[in-house]
Amino acid sequence: MKMLEEIRSWKEKRGAVILAHNYQPDDVQEIADFIGDSLELARKASAIEADVIVFCGVYFMAETAAILNPGKTVLIPDPEAGCPMADMIDAGQLRAFKAQHPGAKVLCYVNSTAEVKAESDICVTSANADKVAASLPEGTEILFVPDRHLGGFTAERMGRTFALWPGYCPTHARLTEAAVLEARAAHPGATVMVHPECAKPVRDAADQVLSTGGMCRYARESPDQTFLVGTELGILYRLRKENPGKTFIPVRQSLICPNMKKTSLEKVLFSLREMQTPVTVAPEIARKAKQAIEAMLAIP
Ligand code: 13P
Ligand code: SF4
Repeated sequence: MKMLEEIRSWKEKRGAVILAHNYQPDDVQEIADFIGDSLELARKASAIEADVIVFCGVYFMAETAAILNPGKTVLIPDPEAGCPMADMIDAGQLRAFKAQHPGAKVLCYVNSTAEVKAESDICVTSANADKVAASLPEGTEILFVPDRHLGGFTAERMGRTFALWPGYCPTHARLTEAAVLEARAAHPGATVMVHPECAKPVRDAADQVLSTGGMCRYARESPDQTFLVGTELGILYRLRKENPGKTFIPVRQSLICPNMKKTSLEKVLFSLREMQTPVTVAPEIARKAKQAIEAMLAIP
């Protein structure tokens, strides 16, 4: 209790806003001013008035907030909270990929470093990949980085062929088709929702393939009562809180992203009290990355 009061008081003193991703620990979601998926958080970050943003999520998300808010202080409670998928391609590798495909456009999943965004034409998230891809003229060659699964899913839905970088999410890679079929057999009639970062056989075995924000919306609006959830377990807190009459069952108990769980209330308090750790991006990289992020945000 004392900790919560201290967080509230330091938040006020700093004029700070706390943003949290849907995968954050339950108690961190509870103290956040805004909880969302990557796209919702990027939009929120671009519209924020507070001077200080405490970003509870992984590094690329805080970096996106920093790029969109050059005049503000963006703090990450644990700077070691990275995203292994984002680190599966660097700027040099992307430049070499582009050199093999002259004239191609680069669609870059926001789960990427600022340097990679800076080498890209436009960003996407799991919530808007179709719309963003559709904004590129037919006949344009598309390179999709770094997630081969979101890239494959988007290409499939658009009836297009993308050149895919072979990155993936190690957490969602733990979700297998067999686990989905087993969960279905144990809970007949339940609706299976999985994230597009899952491999194709897993997506094909599901009823809905949705971003985390899409899952929250679908669970709220659908008449279905029981859901099997195929993504990081942190989302269960929000799904259950917002839909007290419905049942949410994880497809696998092991779907935990260790980086998302690096944030704690203690670290949020430390962050506010000590103004640590500021997330900064070199101006030239930030300027180019911002163009790719803003091109995405301009698509309604
Ligand atoms: P969302 O944008 O769907 O929240 O996904 C972010 C992420 O890191 C999924 O692993
Ligand atoms: Fe990255 Fe996967 Fe964790 Fe999302 S769940 S932050 S993609 S490692």
